[in-house]
Parts: sequence; C-alpha cells; structure tokens
Amino acid sequence: MELRDAAATEELGRDLVTLLPEDPGGWMILLQGELGTGKTTLARSMLRALGHEGIVPSPTYTLVEPYRIDDRTVYHVDLYRIADASELEFLGWADLRDGLLLIEWPDRADGLTEQGDLLIELSYSGKGRNAEISGLSDRGREALRAGL
Ligand SMILES: Nc1ncnc2c1ncn2[C@@H]1O[C@H](COP(=O)(O)OP(=O)(O)O)[C@@H](O)[C@H]1O
Ligand SMILES: [Mg+2]
Repeated sequence: MELRDAAATEELGRDLVTLLPEDPGGWMILLQGELGTGKTTLARSMLRALGHEGIVPSPTYTLVEPYRIDDRTVYHVDLYRIADASELEFLGWADLRDGLLLIEWPDRADGLTEQGDLLIELSYSGKGRNAEISGLSDRGREALRAGL
C-alpha cells in the first residue's frame, strides 16, 4: 500500500493494532526497511494506539525499550546495532517473549522471520513510502484476512 506521508504511516500503525487480539502478548511484528523508511514512526503509532501516552524514544542505542500499558507488555526493539544473532541472548531475549514485540531491523538476526507473525516491509516511494504487509504465521495470516 502507498503511504503518502508520515500521517499515512501512523494510520497504518493504528490499523495494525486493530488486527491484534485483546492480549497481544507473544505476538511478533517485524518492521523491515532501510534507514528512514518509517519503522519507528510505525512502532510509535502502534504504541500510542495501544494506550501509551508518553514519549517513544527510538531504541537505536538501548536496543530494547519496554512498555507496560495497563496489563499488557510491549517491547520496542531495534536490532540495527547487533552484529549477529548470538547477541540476542545478551538482551535477555527469552524474557521478552511474553510481550508484544515490535522489531526494527529483524534481518540483523537470523531466523527471526520464521518466528514472526506479521512482516511490514517499508520502502521509499517518491516523497512517500510503500508498505508491503504479509502474514508469517497462521495467526498472522488469519488476522490479515479478517482485517486489512
Ligand atoms: N509515509 C511517509 N512519507 C514520508 N515521510 C515519512 C513517512 N513515514 C515516515 N516518514 C518520515 O520519515 C522519517 C524517518 O522515519 P523513522 O520512523 O525514524 O524511520 P526508521 O525508523 O525506519 O529509520 C521521519 O521524519 C518520518 O516522519
Ligand atoms: Mg528507527
């Protein structure tokens, strides 16, 4: 789909949240695309739609930013700076699996695509962006069929 401006990216983020179950714990959403294509914009919009009211810093340096929204846990992850998948263990990766995972640069870690539920591929398109959305798991494909 065409995302003409940042507002359109934000709208996609809100739409994606409506596809998720009431308790999205354990879901993994992969945000793929070059630098500047809108991954953080999308994650930020999703966090707001989930009810987070504060700021949403980019996790570029911290790698993981955790959020507790009512009784839901969301982890906003940016893997740009990891060198290889083994570094995920240092992040306490296993402990993150209870929450909703929004992951920028998932291709930096081998094998994440196989574990994900939804893949959002962002690319430049003139002054705007293009988004390609696919379901990676059965429940992800099911959510897309029911929603978007
Ligand atoms: N659909 C869009 N069209 C034009 N600009 C966009 C769009 N979506 C996001 N942007 C802008 O692109 C810039 C980079 O966005 P960001 O979310 O930080 O990208 P990334 O996390 O992929 O590096 C921001 O200024 C943002 O407002
Ligand atoms: Mg980013």
